[in-house]
Order: sequence, then structure tokens, then C-alpha cells
Amino acid sequence: MTELSDNAVYTSQIKLTDSINYTDGYILNSDNWANYVVGAITAIRHVGSALSNNKVFSGQLAHELNHSINTIDLEQPLPNMDAALEEVNSLYLSNAVYFQNPKYVAHLNCAVAYPGVIAEQILTAVNSSLDTYDGSGAGTLIEQKIIDWTADKIGFSHNADGVFTSGGSQSNLMALLLARDNFALTSLNESIKDVGITDNCRRFKIFTSSVCHFTIKKSAAILGLGFDSVISIPVDSNFKMDLHELERSIEKTIEEGGIPICIVGTAGTTDYGSVDPLDGIAPICKKYDMWFHVDAAYGCGLLVSQKHKEKLNGISHADSVTVDYHKSFLQPTSCSAFYVKDRQKLSLLTYHAEYLNPLQNDTEKTPNLVDKSLQTTRRFDALKLWLTLRVMGSENIGKVFDSAIELAGDVYELLMGDDEFEVIHSPETSAVVFRYFNKKYSNEKLNKINYSIKEHCFYAGNCAIASTKFKGIQYLKFTILNPTTTYEDIVEILSEIKSHAYLIQSQKEYMD
Ligand SMILES: Cc1ncc(COP(=O)(O)O)c(C=O)c1O
Repeated sequence: MTELSDNAVYTSQIKLTDSINYTDGYILNSDNWANYVVGAITAIRHVGSALSNNKVFSGQLAHELNHSINTIDLEQPLPNMDAALEEVNSLYLSNAVYFQNPKYVAHLNCAVAYPGVIAEQILTAVNSSLDTYDGSGAGTLIEQKIIDWTADKIGFSHNADGVFTSGGSQSNLMALLLARDNFALTSLNESIKDVGITDNCRRFKIFTSSVCHFTIKKSAAILGLGFDSVISIPVDSNFKMDLHELERSIEKTIEEGGIPICIVGTAGTTDYGSVDPLDGIAPICKKYDMWFHVDAAYGCGLLVSQKHKEKLNGISHADSVTVDYHKSFLQPTSCSAFYVKDRQKLSLLTYHAEYLNPLQNDTEKTPNLVDKSLQTTRRFDALKLWLTLRVMGSENIGKVFDSAIELAGDVYELLMGDDEFEVIHSPETSAVVFRYFNKKYSNEKLNKINYSIKEHCFYAGNCAIASTKFKGIQYLKFTILNPTTTYEDIVEILSEIKSHAYLIQSQKEYMD
């Protein structure tokens, strides 16, 4: 690892304060600049050495870590920044989970591109708030430019709009909120925003595949529709929504007095990476006058892919789309956005507060993004993607997602050729679901072995893999997002999985 330049280089033109004034000495401004720079350099050094560690995780158990963290007395500050950063190093950096490690192939957390991290430092230092133009200035316009750029990639017209959110969970909630309120207003002449949930809402139904993200159900509950308003449509052998079953289920719902309001297609299911047949869902939405939401939290990387963009065919017909740049655009969390085809629909979310975004405001001259957001004070996360696009370019982000898809295909072939593994699907994007297999054992025993393998890997700390269940069978999962993960890394992880499997089989406590 290259040694970072000496502090002196950074501090030669600035005046270091000898001692900190305990009332205003910590405020980030030009007077205290030197303290900030020296602290930041020390922090970066700690991060640098943490990143050079080969381990994904220290293997510490939660209760062991909890003890060290709980003994800290928060009423007693440490003598200086160096000491506090040492403490952060030993408590956090030494025991964090490192998504940058090529052998982290567990959940939908990505390795980050460094321009995104540099932008994070800028936006945090300035601390803009993107609710209003008078809280952000240029930040509002930069976010809007990123929104327009992505809407164009989705294939939406100039009539589209969107806003940055805290993540896919919030974006999915916004989608169902708009689906609910738009249907009530346009089909039933009921304004839920004004009068709240009506009797008709109890009959509203949302259709989505059985392997959609759990936030669809959670959002339905938050919106007063309840888990039961979400109708789960079976998937085919490629984990894509079965369109025949979808139409059958909509017809049945109508017969039973339900009111179908929305279909959620997933572009990149959390476990399997499968993309629902979006171009087949679109005409069904049209036929039944339903809102079409596409949850592309994971599959949004396809928007900039050179090789696989066609997997998203049909997305431009959606009424709304969830995009998580912090999954497949190499961005630090949070960096996500929510899009609508028709910008007018976002007015269902608008509230005019006199102190913030009064009605008489001329939105053309002074845009206030709070008009279309669930949040008020809001981070300038768009700057991270902006800087990454300006340095790395969208084509290179697309290449990273393409390479992850290619590696997933190679991993599938590798697993298929090995009797000790059983693969459940041929990957469509970058997730591969499989299990360790030994024909000597029942599914019940194999479930135990496979779950323990995942745990053993995590606590050994050399790699991190995920697990999931389908039809009662416990599987293991690789989610590949990191361009530095190689085929050889995967071979080593599979060899480690086998070693854990053999050890587990030799241990009575697991096998009884
Ligand atoms: C398909 C899908 N949608 C939504 C989400 C939720 O996104 P977030 O964690 O950014 O809130 C996830 C998270 O993994 C996801 O996989």
C-alpha cells in the first residue's frame, strides 16, 4: 500500500491551532481547518490500514463486541482526536465487515468507487439540505440533473421526474403510496391525502412475485392496506413471475370483490437476481388499469450495461421505478432514487409549509425538492454519483455490472460440474443460489449443514456468503458485485465451504 503523504505537506500552508477552544474549536470552518485536516489524515490512515487487512471480518461474536462497546463511558471524552480515532479503530474498524474484500459475496452491499467516497466527504463537510433551494443552492440542480439523466436511461420522456431517497425501502413505499392514492383519486374520486383510508381501500390488492423484496408487504402494512393486500404470484423455474398465474389471480380477485390497483415487477430479485418479464406485465397493467411499479433496486446496473440492457425491456412502460445506486452503481450508502413516468403524480406527496416551500413559490425559478419527497432535511447523496460519473464514467460502471454477470455464469458452470454442490437456477444477473450436497443425508440434515456452513464462513472471517430458503430447502448464496472478485477467489471460497462442510459432518452436535 502506498504510504500517504506526510502531514507536513498538507499543513504547510495552514496554521495549526495549538490548543482547541472548547466552545467553538470543533466547528468545521476556516479557523479550525488545520485540526480538521490533521484529524482527517489520521482517520484516512486508519482506514487505509484496515482496508489492507485480508480478512472480511474479525470473527468477533456480537456479545464479545458488545462488552467492549458497552464499557465506554460516553460522559468522559478522551483527551484528543488521536485517542478517539484509536478507539474507533479498535472498536469499529477492527471489527467491521469489509464489502471491498473480493471474498465478500454475501448480500447486496457493494464495494465502493473512491470518487463516491471523496464526494461523501465534500457533501458532509458542506452539509447541504436538499429539501429546499435555500438549503442547498447548486445541490438541488445537480440532484435534478442526475434524476433527469437516470430517467432518460430508464427510457422515460421529459415528463418524468424523481427524487433521491434513503434506499429501496423508501422508494418502494413511495411507489405503493402513489399507486394507492392515485387509484383512489382517479377511479373512486377519493382523496386519501385529505380524508385518510376509506372503506374501499380495504379492498385494494397489490400483485407481486413470491420472491419480491419484503418491503412490498411492509409498505402495504405501513400504508394501512395490510400484509393481506399483497397477493403473491408464483414464479417459474427461472424465478420470474408467472404471467399466466398473474392474470388468473387478478381475475379471481375481481370476482371476489377485491380491487386490483398495482403490479410490482422486480428487476433483480434479492435472492436470485432474476428479472420479471416487464414487457409482459406492462400490457396487463394497462388492461386492468393498474399502477406498474418496477423495483430495480438491484438490477438498475443494467441501465448502464453494454451487454445486458435488454433484460430491462419493458421498464420504460412503468409508472414508477426504484433505483439503488448503492447496490449496483458502486456508491456508498445511502445513494438511491425513486422515479415516476408522470411528474404530476408526485404532487400526491406535496405539502406546502409556509416556512419552507410556500404555495406562492415559483417552482420553475426556485425548485424545492421537498415538494416530491417523504423526507424534509435530506442529504446531498446525488453528489457521489455525480463525481463517479465525471471521473469513472457510466460506461465503466456498466462494465463492472457486466463482469459480475459473467463471473456468476462461470460460477454456475463450476458448481454444475461438482457433485458436492447442487445449483437451484441458472443466474440471470449476478446472484448464484446453491447448496452443499451429500446424497448420504436427508434434506433436514443438509439444511443444518448448509446453514452452519454460512455461519462458519462468517466467523472464520476469510469470506462472507449469504443463505436463503426456498420451499423448505436451505441454500447458500453468492451475490457478486465487486469487480475485484476473481474466479480464483470463488474457487477458494468453494474449497473453504467444503472444508467447513466436512468439519460440521464430523461434529456430533450438528449432526444429531
Ligand atoms: C429488490 C430489492 N428491493 C428493495 C430493497 C431495499 O433496499 P434498501 O436496503 O436500499 O432499502 C432491496 C434490498 O436488498 C432489494 O433487494
